[in-house]
Amino acid sequence: MDLFDVYPLYDITPVKGEGAYVFDKDGNKYLDLYGGHAVISIGHSHPAYVNALTHQLREIGFYSNSVKNPLQNELAAKLEKVSGINDYSLFLCNSGAEANENALKLASFHTGKDRVVYFEKAFHGRTSGVVAVTDNEAIKSPFNIGHNATKVGFGDAEALEAELEHGDVAGVIFEVVQGVGGLDEATTEFYLKVAELCKSHNAVLIADEVQAGYGRTGDFFAFQKHGIRPDIISIAKGMGNGFPVGGILIDKTIEPKYGMLGTTFGGNHLACAAGIAVLEIIEKEKLIENSKSLFEYVKEKADKIPQIKNLKGRGLMIGLEFDFEVAELRKELLFRHQIFTGAASNKKLLRILPPLNIKKEQFDTFFKALKIALQNY
Ligand SMILES: Cc1ncc(COP(=O)(O)O)c(C=O)c1O
Repeated sequence: MDLFDVYPLYDITPVKGEGAYVFDKDGNKYLDLYGGHAVISIGHSHPAYVNALTHQLREIGFYSNSVKNPLQNELAAKLEKVSGINDYSLFLCNSGAEANENALKLASFHTGKDRVVYFEKAFHGRTSGVVAVTDNEAIKSPFNIGHNATKVGFGDAEALEAELEHGDVAGVIFEVVQGVGGLDEATTEFYLKVAELCKSHNAVLIADEVQAGYGRTGDFFAFQKHGIRPDIISIAKGMGNGFPVGGILIDKTIEPKYGMLGTTFGGNHLACAAGIAVLEIIEKEKLIENSKSLFEYVKEKADKIPQIKNLKGRGLMIGLEFDFEVAELRKELLFRHQIFTGAASNKKLLRILPPLNIKKEQFDTFFKALKIALQNY
């Protein structure tokens, strides 16, 4: 049976990972500054993570939500401690799109309304509900035409207010730092206004922290920098360091009704063990602090490279903007210098999303290679 083509595939077959490196089947070593779509938060095959998952699998790997699972409580408690936020309840699922699907569904249940507002260049997933609030023509499908979703400009509070005044908006979904869209972030004033507008119009404020969350921006959640309190926060990606786990944090004012949300795999024992291990490592290795301070190091290096026109993002969610499209540059970095980087819908942006425990020397390797690759530009 053939495989359905999913992404443009590089002819590389990783068979092993270690920290910020992956090794292919021929023994070639690659520096991974992308983490397979921003997923690898604590490094590949971190020993404490491997031990935690191996131990859990020996005990019990899976049972569904029809029974009690204290690991879910442990994960929720740890998440509250490491993130510093409280008075939320946790619903566990398996991916970012699924987290956002549940967030939208809950917003609709809670308000009794059926329209959702999203922002220009947003990426919230590919399943048929959330693709309606994703601003990416390449992945929309005719099936989504009927969805009741309205796009407004990112940072345009007036346009948002005009939509909310219709009175039918159940929720507003946003990424504080846009990932796939190209590392844009609006002002604190804007986020405060969005929060205020949602409150006054009885719309649920949904922060999609699937990519920016879990310490990647130098705060545990990207929204924390702006002093807002979302009603729902969606998480996934770095949460499991590659083990599929996602979830939503739900403000306690949104009351669950039995049967509203559910999933077969969500919150299983192995997923919880992965989630707990990641948080323990983030805490123990002070990875949020590392993420924050390394941005300054990257900035220092980037400022010395004239071809870099703009440094975007914060923490270890970084975009290097050039005045040319970067597809060829990325290929050169990958095939000549063995460094994985990421793309964005802004084709002039090179995205850097390394593990949060990456070292300065590994950035030195990257910038040395980048300078060589840029000699042709
Ligand atoms: C901000 C954001 N939300 C949601 C998603 C969808 O997550 P998943 O691919 O796990 O469904 C992504 C994926 O890139 C994302 O970047």
